[in-house]
Amino acid sequence: MKLIDNLSTQLFQRHFSGQPSHSAFAPGRIEFIGNHTDYNGGLVMGAAVTEGITIAVSLREDAQIHIVSDAGDLVELPLGNYQPLTGVDSWTNYPIGVTKVMTELGMRTPTGYNMAVTSTLPAGAGMSSSAAFELATAKALAALYGFETDTAGFARIGRKAENEFVGMPCGILDQGVSAFGQADHLVKIDCATESFATEPMPQGAHFWIFNSNKKHALVDSAYADRHRECHEALAQLQADYPEAQNLSQITEAQLESSKDKLDELLYRRAAHIVGENARVQAVEAALSQNDLAAVGAALNASHESSRVNFENSIEELDTLVELLKQQPTVFGARLTGGGFGGAVMALTNADFGQTHADQIATAFEAKHQLEPSIFHTRAGDGAKLLD
Ligand code: GLA
Repeated sequence: MKLIDNLSTQLFQRHFSGQPSHSAFAPGRIEFIGNHTDYNGGLVMGAAVTEGITIAVSLREDAQIHIVSDAGDLVELPLGNYQPLTGVDSWTNYPIGVTKVMTELGMRTPTGYNMAVTSTLPAGAGMSSSAAFELATAKALAALYGFETDTAGFARIGRKAENEFVGMPCGILDQGVSAFGQADHLVKIDCATESFATEPMPQGAHFWIFNSNKKHALVDSAYADRHRECHEALAQLQADYPEAQNLSQITEAQLESSKDKLDELLYRRAAHIVGENARVQAVEAALSQNDLAAVGAALNASHESSRVNFENSIEELDTLVELLKQQPTVFGARLTGGGFGGAVMALTNADFGQTHADQIATAFEAKHQLEPSIFHTRAGDGAKLLD
C-alpha cells in the first residue's frame, strides 16, 4: 500500500502541514477459543482480522503531541509527564500509554509528533480496537524514533500500556494476536511462557461476527471482578496444590477432588478456566485432523461454560448462539472476547451466506428489539509498517 493511498495519510494531510514520514496498520482480533485463560497462565487461540487501525505520523519541531482521529477530534498534549485522561479525550490514553511505556523502555523522544488515526474496525464490536490502536501506535513510533524490539516485544508494550495506563487488567491475547496475526492463520498463545505460534486456518472455514450491539454499562468492572475471582479461586486451590502458580496448572481431576472445599461460585469460575484450557487443546487436535465438527462442538461448549460457569454471557449473546447453532452450515458459535455484551463469533462453512445472517438478525431483532451488526471476515496479517 502506498502511503498516499491510505486513509490515515489523507487525514494527516488535512490536519497537519507536510507529509507523514511513517504509517502503520494493526488489526483487531477474534478470540477463537480460550476465554479468560490469558491472565490465568493458560492457552488461547485467536485470529487477526483484516479490519484494523491505521496511523500516520511525523516528527514535530516542538515538545507537543498532536493526535487527530477520523471521528474529527484533535487533542494536543505536552511531551512527557503523561497522565491518563478521563472524559471525551480518553481515547488518547491508548497512544499516550504506548508512548510512555516505550519511553520507559528507552525510546528517546527529543521532539513531539503529529499523529492521524483512522479505523475500519466497527466500534464496540468486541474485536479489540484498543489493542489495534496500541500496536499501530507502537509500530509507527518505533519507526519514527528509531526504537527496536521484536514482535513479542511490541505485544508486551501494548499490554503494558493497557494494564498500567488505561487501567484494564487484560492478558496478552488481544495484543499478541494483533502483533502475530497472519493471513489465513490462527495465532496460538501459551500465556504462561508467552510463546506465540501460528497455524493454518482449515480450508473452507469462515468467520462471521454478530455484534449484539448490547452495551453493558459495567464491562470494565465486571472484567476486573472475574480477574479477582480467578485469583481467589487459585488461592483456595493452593491449599491443596501449593505448587500451582496459576489456575491453568490445575487439572480437571484436581479441581473435582477439591470441589467441596471451594466456594461454589469460585468453583464455577475455576471450572471455566480449566475447561477452556482443555477445549483449546481439543480444538488444536481437531484442527490437525481437519475435523471441523469437533472444533464447532468445542466452540459451543465454550459458550455454554461462559453462560453457566463464568457468567460473562448475556441473554442477547445466548440468543445469537442458539440461532446460529440451528443452522446446518454453522460448525459452532460462542461469545468472543471479554463478554458482558459485545459479539458472538460463528465458524461456518462456505455455504453460510448473507441470507442466513439476515434471517438470524431478523429473529434476534424480533426478540430483543436491537439490530445486530453482522460481518464476514477472514484471518488477516498482524501489525506492520506500511510503505
Ligand atoms: C478481553 C481481554 C483479553 C482476554 C479476553 C477474554 O478481550 O482484553 O485479555 O482476557 O477479554 O478471553
